This record gives sequence, C-alpha cells and structure tokens, in this order.
Amino acid sequence: MTADYLSSDIQPDTAGLEAALVADLGRLIARMPDPAGSQHRAALERELAADAGVRHVVAVSSGTAALHTALRALHIGPGDDVLVPALSVIMSVAPIIHAGARPVFVDCDPTGTDLDYEDAGRKVTPMAKAILPVYLWGRPGDPARLARFAAQHSLAVVEDACQAQGSRADGRLAGTFGDVGCCSLKDGKVLSCGEGGYLLTDRDDIAERARSFRSHLQPPPPDTVRPAEVGYNYRLAEPLALIARANLARFDFLATLRRHQAGLLADLLRGTPGIEVNGIPTRQGWNGYSFLASVTLDRPRAFCERLARSGVPNSVGTFGLVAADQRPGFTSRTATRCSQASAVIDRTLAVILTEHDDEQRLTRYAETISREAVRWQHTI
Ligand SMILES: Cc1ncc(COP(=O)(O)O)c(C=O)c1O
Repeated sequence: MTADYLSSDIQPDTAGLEAALVADLGRLIARMPDPAGSQHRAALERELAADAGVRHVVAVSSGTAALHTALRALHIGPGDDVLVPALSVIMSVAPIIHAGARPVFVDCDPTGTDLDYEDAGRKVTPMAKAILPVYLWGRPGDPARLARFAAQHSLAVVEDACQAQGSRADGRLAGTFGDVGCCSLKDGKVLSCGEGGYLLTDRDDIAERARSFRSHLQPPPPDTVRPAEVGYNYRLAEPLALIARANLARFDFLATLRRHQAGLLADLLRGTPGIEVNGIPTRQGWNGYSFLASVTLDRPRAFCERLARSGVPNSVGTFGLVAADQRPGFTSRTATRCSQASAVIDRTLAVILTEHDDEQRLTRYAETISREAVRWQHTI
C-alpha cells in the first residue's frame, strides 16, 4: 500500500516486493519437503535477533505458543503462581494455565500504561515464580520499575510484547527488558506472517530449552526432562517464516505507517466532544498499535459497540474485551476485583489498525466516531 501521508523516501516498492515474495514462495513450495530443513526459520531468527540486539530468537507457531514455551523453559508449572495484569487479553493468561500454573491478576495504574506495583506487591505469594507484564495496545511500562520489582521478589520476567513490536521504553525495545520476551506474528500485528510468534532472550539456557520444547523435546534439552514431561509441535512453518522475513525487511515502513495512522486519527479527532485522545508519556517510543482515546460519554462500552456496528473496528466493540480477571472461568481465581483495569478498558476506544487502512478509510472512521458521539449525547 502507498500511504499519501508518508514521505516517499520510506515507502517501499510494494508491487516489486510482492512479486519477489510470490516468486520465492513458489520456489519454496516446489521444493517442499525441503531436505535443507528450516532455512527461512533460521534466517528469520538471526535477523530478528540482530535487529533486537539479543543473543537468541526462537521462532514458534504463535504468540500464545511463545508464552507457553517461555514459561516452560523457565520450568514454571503446577504449584507455581504467575503475576499477570488484568489489563490483558485471554491469550496472555491461557499459556499460564497451559503450563499448569496459576494466574494471579494484578491491577494497573489509573492511566493503564503500567502495573499497579502496590497491588502487585500485595499479591506476591510464596508460590510466585514469575511476572508476565502485558504491553496492551503496544504500550510498555517502566522497565526499571519492573526490574526492581522482579529482583525484590525473585521473580522471572516473561514479557508479553505480542502487540508491542517496535515499541521502546527508556530507549529499550519492548520484549528485551526481562528474562524472555514474546511476540506474535499473527496478521494484524505490526510484524506478521498470518500466524506465528517468537521468543527473544539473552539467556542461553532458555533458548536451548525453548528450541527443544517447540519440537516435542527433540533433541532433549541439556537439563533433566521429567519422565512425564512432553513438548509440543510449536514449529513455525517455512512458508510463514519466508513471509515474516519479507515483512521484516520493510518493518521500518510498517512501524512508521502504524504510528502515522494512529497520529492521523488523533489529529482528526482532537477536540471532539466525548472523545479524549490519549497522550502517551514521552518516555515511551510507542508503536501506535491502535488509535487510543478515552470515551467520556455515558455508557462508553455501549458506545464502542455501536461504533463497531457502524464500521469502526475496536477492542471493546469488536472483540468484547473485558479485564482478564472478569472473564468467565477466571473470576473464581480472583480474590479481589482489579477495578482500575475494568475502568480503563470500559472507557477506552482502541481502534484496530491494519496496513490496509488508508487515509480515506481513517477519515471515514473519524467522521463516524464524531457523528456517533454527537448522536450519543443527544439520544442517551
Ligand atoms: C497481548 C497479546 N498476547 C498474546 C497474543 C497471542 O498471540 P497469537 O494470537 O499469535 O497466539 C496476542 C495476539 O493475538 C496478543 O495481542
């Protein structure tokens, strides 16, 4: 796609890139099953590791698989607690349960950009082994605070950076703050290949165990495998690795595009009654994952649902996002409600953005949001 509002020097030759990708895919498929093995997956891992400045990247079949693999590579399992924000998605929590551990939900600060560390401190149990911060809508919290908290309570840090590719905090790339970071390559993410994911880590032991775990513990990891322990097929398919590499080669464009899309909606909607465009703390180099605003109208969830029906896709209206501790099945695991997380989600309009949202479509989104906000004030 060409984007009118981006300067021509960062626009890739989309037609040329697509033709090259189709040709490469054709050659790859003709060779499958490829006796040379996982050339593209290995190359993708090298390229991602070099870009992020980490020792290891382990590519897997999804972001969910990356989180599950990371937890198991840290030996987290039955009897262990993992602190996880309620301001998250089901895919952040499911891997903790897949590992056999218990999610302990932690509230967020009033802005929703970081954990409520006082609440986190109250919820650390003797069984707590890890904290799994989730950078919802691409916004990482304060890495120094996270590191201090984890060190104080001897917790491993597994970052859910699935929505935060390219985001930075204090100059550091999201997913590289802790023991291991996890990203998704699902379509709709800033870097995608349809379905896929990867782990980022500087720790040799985690990388080694993750590589083994993603392929049925074959070859077995160097440390002991308990007799009943099994791995999974979490391998990333070669054609998907090839697509991920092609998109990685134009990642700067994709990340700049996303920021511009979010920025354009912010410019168009600033000053709209009932819609407060979110400011992002300057410490954060945000990837612009979704356009974010606080809805100050009555019944903001119902308003977001109305927007989704009117053609503006958004987290609450389209996906029914609720705080994770309030999901059916998880509520019984929760001692106290994480009320800030619910409040942040209920008032947040997070418009879902993709590479295909051009200026025309974004202008239509802005017009719909403004029009519906005015109607809402008069009809409610
Ligand atoms: C915050 C977050 N965590 C985890 C996931 C899981 O990633 P995947 O869908 O690739 O399994 C996603 C994406 O869907 C996500 O947005």
